[in-house]
Amino acid sequence: MKKRLIVGNWKLHPKSLKEGERLLSGFSAVRGVETIICPPTVFLGELRSRFKGKTLSFGAQDLFWEFSGSYTGGVSSEMLKDRGAKYVLVGHSERRALGEVNDIVNKKLLAALKGGLVPILCVGEPARDLEGGYLEFLQNQLTACLKGVSRKMLVDVVIAYEPVWAIGQSFEKAMRPEEVHETSLFIRKIISDTYRREDGHSISILYGGSVEGENAGAIVSEGNVEGVLVGHQSLKPKEFAKIIEAIAKV
Ligand code: PGA
Repeated sequence: MKKRLIVGNWKLHPKSLKEGERLLSGFSAVRGVETIICPPTVFLGELRSRFKGKTLSFGAQDLFWEFSGSYTGGVSSEMLKDRGAKYVLVGHSERRALGEVNDIVNKKLLAALKGGLVPILCVGEPARDLEGGYLEFLQNQLTACLKGVSRKMLVDVVIAYEPVWAIGQSFEKAMRPEEVHETSLFIRKIISDTYRREDGHSISILYGGSVEGENAGAIVSEGNVEGVLVGHQSLKPKEFAKIIEAIAKV
């Protein structure tokens, strides 16, 4: 069985390092499920040195694609790795909403791999239509963002499928497990068609978008995904613990 993954994307929270420490003290990671916390970059190094453990890993929410130079505000994959990051989100829909196009996401993904981080490539349609246009949208995103990624590099890529319309709601509004299953099959097929058949099976796919304790288990057991990407519930330790427990049981 492939490794189960749970990613907590803290976005622009919390306000202080102390508060971040409080959040991390409020739940326990469990064996068999890798729990990855993506705090704001400024808190990454300290949180990691205080809380690193076998089942708790850290990631960044974004990176810049160059490694050094005159790029005010930039943070490279090497710098993130130096602070203890193992993963990095690339192409989250909230970054795309600020103007990040596939081309930039692709550069960031390649830079993450080059710097030794595992990129978690976020893809997802803004809306669903009856004609299946969302499938074409997904295919284009995947193909463009994975440009230049060889089969060997693909082993270190995780795909997070996050339908934008399902983000930041409650579990009732999340995608149903059977729909997650259909879409993850579609993503696996694109990977199989682009690389080799077995690559579609072996790639790790996460679902994100209103994952809560109520739906996390079913999404992983019925959705044909290896784990979940959690936003708002990752800032509530008790609720996050429920998600971890639900997935550990699957
Ligand atoms: P959500 O966010 O769990 O609050 O829907 C998911 C995300 O944006 O990654």
